[in-house]
Amino acid sequence: MELPKRAGNAPVPVDLEAGKRYAYCSCGLSESQPFCNGKHRGQGMAPTVFVAEETKTAYMCTCKLTSNPNGFCDGSHKKPV
Ligand code: FES
Repeated sequence: MELPKRAGNAPVPVDLEAGKRYAYCSCGLSESQPFCNGKHRGQGMAPTVFVAEETKTAYMCTCKLTSNPNGFCDGSHKKPV
């Protein structure tokens, strides 16, 4: 299986809390998008862990094409596949 797997075609809004740690799914296998649920194990991949800098609603990538280091949507899902 080629990873990362495209888990969606649009970002999902999530409520982040300042100072809280999050694990963004980078393999695309998690059913808990956009967050890790451990499905990367044995796939040679790991989640992207970050601490939210502020409390806000963020739009997180599910297409796995974003260049943002924390998994925030950068509009790359609009690119043709
Ligand atoms: S959902 Fe991946 S860049 Fe927008």
